[in-house]
Amino acid sequence: MSKKIIYIVISIIILMFILQISIIKQDNPQIINEPAWDSQETKQNFMRACGDCHSNETKWPWYSNIPPFSFLIFYDVVKGRDEFNVSEYHHGDGKKSAHEFDEGKMPLWIYTIMHNEANINTEDREKFIYGLEQTFGKYNKIKPSKNEYNFEE
Ligand code: HEC
Repeated sequence: MSKKIIYIVISIIILMFILQISIIKQDNPQIINEPAWDSQETKQNFMRACGDCHSNETKWPWYSNIPPFSFLIFYDVVKGRDEFNVSEYHHGDGKKSAHEFDEGKMPLWIYTIMHNEANINTEDREKFIYGLEQTFGKYNKIKPSKNEYNFEE
């Protein structure tokens, strides 16, 4: 009986590694465009707190090769880049950035467990929010217009 369980566990682990090889591609494609950052500081803070999932300069940590974390990390990077990618920037992308950060929804809480550096301290918070608004535009949550967004440029 217990031998059976060990076989099953080993099979699952092997299967996860096989699945990983066929599904996960940890690539960092070429940088083809960039937003007009309002300052170097905003860019640096963005790369620190957001860049792993919203750019093509992802730093893949060692545990990103270990299932099941590999799947979770890969999923977040693919979804994050799909949402908006500062390395393949289109004008108007990421306009909720300041809002999402201000609300504490971004960076994803699970990311901050392993990435202490992504916690922007209170002193820099307001500055970072301002920089995100200047760079990506402002999301107006009080009186949403037809397309919900309000650009301030
Ligand atoms: C661990 C990966 C990860 C990090 C780090 C991260 N994001 Fe995201 N982001 C995602 C994923 C995945 C989504 C899409 C799913 C969702 O909204 O939860 C997303 C969605 C977004 C959206 C769209 C939200 C919406 O509802 O339209 C914005 C804006 C955003 N992120 C900004 C940021 C900013 C700004 C930072 C840094 C302060 C950041 N993200 C850090 C993974 C990440």
